[in-house]
Amino acid sequence: MLPNLQEAKIRTKNKVDIKNYHLDPKYKNLGLNKKYYIKTYGCQMNEHDTENIKAILEQMHFTETTLMEEADLILLNTCAIRENAHNKVFGMIGRIKHLKETKPHIIVGLCGCMAQEEIVIDEIMKRYKWLDIVFGTHNIANVPEILNKSLTKKQLAIEVMSIEGDIVENIPVKRESKYKAWVNIMYGCDKFCTYCIVPYTRGKQRSRLPKDIINEVKQLVKEGYQEITLLGQNVNAYGKDLDIDYTMANLLNDVAKTNIKRIFFVTSHPWDFTLDMIEAIKNNDNVKPYIHLPLQSGSNEILKKMGRRYTKESYLELYNLLRSSIPNVSITTDIIVGFPNESDQDFNDTLDVVNKCKFDSAFTFIFSPREGTPASKMKDNVSLEIKNQRLQQLNKLINKYSNEANMKYLNKTVDVLLEKVSEKNPNMLMGYTDTMKLVNVLAPKDNIGKIVKVKIESVKTWSLDGKIVK
Ligand code: 5AD
Ligand code: SF4
Repeated sequence: MLPNLQEAKIRTKNKVDIKNYHLDPKYKNLGLNKKYYIKTYGCQMNEHDTENIKAILEQMHFTETTLMEEADLILLNTCAIRENAHNKVFGMIGRIKHLKETKPHIIVGLCGCMAQEEIVIDEIMKRYKWLDIVFGTHNIANVPEILNKSLTKKQLAIEVMSIEGDIVENIPVKRESKYKAWVNIMYGCDKFCTYCIVPYTRGKQRSRLPKDIINEVKQLVKEGYQEITLLGQNVNAYGKDLDIDYTMANLLNDVAKTNIKRIFFVTSHPWDFTLDMIEAIKNNDNVKPYIHLPLQSGSNEILKKMGRRYTKESYLELYNLLRSSIPNVSITTDIIVGFPNESDQDFNDTLDVVNKCKFDSAFTFIFSPREGTPASKMKDNVSLEIKNQRLQQLNKLINKYSNEANMKYLNKTVDVLLEKVSEKNPNMLMGYTDTMKLVNVLAPKDNIGKIVKVKIESVKTWSLDGKIVK
């Protein structure tokens, strides 16, 4: 089956099918004596999908390797959000081609959001026919079957469905960390912001049932996990597609009762943020004061063209409410510069919001036209040079405020979940505060996996340094 963006856009009121994953025993030994390597691009959703794919492969007795050169199966789990994500993947495919020439038996596959795009599949059929498998975001549970097909037929097997999507429960998972875990609460997105490809690549909004989410979290608590991040493209809209009267605020309150130590959630759309959610964050010690609240633009004109459904003023109102009602809250954002026909005045409005909000940090991007989205067809009179200048100017301002926000931590004592040895210094461990600040700590390795009290002794734009205090 090939992808089709027109079909991927359709939204019906049809009930979402909830299926149960199970591995057909006939595929159980497909991976015996074979190694797999997966490279993941893009967002946390993709990282978590990779954790599922890895576990499926290991049920089939594949073993993981971190060396691409020794793998029998290479998978690229791809991202479609911007052009440079595409370019990186095609660059990597070029490298893998050389490997495949010396070792023709290896299976090479592409999955994730790029697999859902017609232009990518066209390109693969024209220039990369030597690939073995392509499967989409709706086909993860079928990996064993797809691999089997490829092994028996020895020709490019493409399994991509452009559908609204279903929910498959009980897919196994090989988690990257023993201390913190991603938990999907919903799939897809129905917002259709005009620049965004996600509603096409990931299908309609489908909330998992509360009981399935809570049982997953309870299990994580049993296994000793300290932290979870509830994942969705637009988590505040959680539950709106369910038959029951149940919201994100209800879910936060119920997940908090599992007594997992730290709860985060991403990503929030400003439009769906409710007062009940603010109450849930305030009233539950383990729902942590960190909110990622994408702004995208500070100009009402641009926000309208983006289809964001809020204004500069209503964003600021929500932002100020969050700051004033949640003590010590840390708020980060996403901003796009160079949306078609963005004027100096529009850009200044964005800078104005940044100056007013003083975000803890931000991800900033130059608009990248995505084929099939409405914004990709809009006329654009802004040169790339100006877009680059705007990005630099914006980044400078963002960094100034990140630094200021971090300075507030100097000499303070904060809770940090220590995760692993720091990449920068083998004598240090790294972890995050409950406001999602990266901290490097001079501490013995037996502290890994613990939440410890750390006194911050020095501050950088991107991270904090500190030492453990009793
Ligand atoms: N161009 C640039 N940035 C984009 N994003 C989403 N689509 C595009 C695009 N076409 C950004 C948004 C979003 C983040 C995940 O990626 O800021 O919040
Ligand atoms: Fe894309 Fe908007 Fe949905 Fe976020 S809310 S995934 S930006 S369409």
